[in-house]
Amino acid sequence: MKKLIIDVDAGVDDAIAIMMALSTPDVEVLGITCCYGNTSVENVLRNVLRVLKVCDRLDIPVYRGCSKPLVDHENHADNFFGSDGFGDVPDPHAPSLDLVQQKKAKQAIVDLVNANDKEVILISTAPLMNLAAAVQLDPSLPKKLKALYIMGGTIEARGNITICGEFNFVCDPEAAYIVLDCYTCPTYIATWEFTCWNCLPWSFCDTWLSVHTEKSDFVEKILRISRQVRCEQKHQEFNPCDAYAMAAAINDAVIPKSEEVAVTVELQGIYTRGMMVLDRDEKLKKEHKVFIMKNVDLEKFKEMLINAV
Ligand code: BDR
Ligand code: CA
Repeated sequence: MKKLIIDVDAGVDDAIAIMMALSTPDVEVLGITCCYGNTSVENVLRNVLRVLKVCDRLDIPVYRGCSKPLVDHENHADNFFGSDGFGDVPDPHAPSLDLVQQKKAKQAIVDLVNANDKEVILISTAPLMNLAAAVQLDPSLPKKLKALYIMGGTIEARGNITICGEFNFVCDPEAAYIVLDCYTCPTYIATWEFTCWNCLPWSFCDTWLSVHTEKSDFVEKILRISRQVRCEQKHQEFNPCDAYAMAAAINDAVIPKSEEVAVTVELQGIYTRGMMVLDRDEKLKKEHKVFIMKNVDLEKFKEMLINAV
């Protein structure tokens, strides 16, 4: 049984990643921690509860995390997924925020990892502020994790929110820096470019979501705005970015190859703040290296998306 903690800023692709985990038989989701990112932390909490309701899994504990970056006061939340992060199609019967746990996300991460020594896989599909806060609370945390999977960063300095920066890293560069520095457990990164190289045609989406289950109708509805935005930007493909990190975490066969390299994050720079920096020539003499995901078995990945709805 794989034990997961999922850290999200849901976001439509975060939702798909959660649904993927919940549809995988040998996976147990210990908790979902939320932070600001695609939208406010309140909206993220509401969105996660909506996903759990559709999946009939409101038994999974949901925790409130950071509402702003560690240092910056800038608000990066964009409207790519609509102003509520979920395509602006509110559910009048959405579960109440009273279901959110009293314990804060950073404490929940520490407690769940300590209670399941070397068993927990932590997956972050969000700005890394909750993970940075958790390691400050318990510096021995990384040693007790089985693995960490991250969606974020760039490998060729081709960003989506700035010229060279990917959204999750740019939202909180200090948090990304701390996490890449302190989490010395096996770490796997699905970078922005990697997700772009493995996008799916919209025609796949049409078939994927044509099954008209409650889950597929839900995804179709919350995806509409971002699909429209991507099509207006002449992107002919669907990029469920967070789902790649999830797929890798729960099925080793989906993303078999990766490059092992030391990485850090640029904290200065007018154009480069928040960019992931790869130290291929080992100039930083960092002992810990991460695995940068390289290729995807798209057929297996599509199968996992299909099972998710
Ligand atoms: C990442 O940022 C968010 O918009 C998505 O949910 C994904 O985690 C892509 O850069
Ligand atoms: Ca996300």
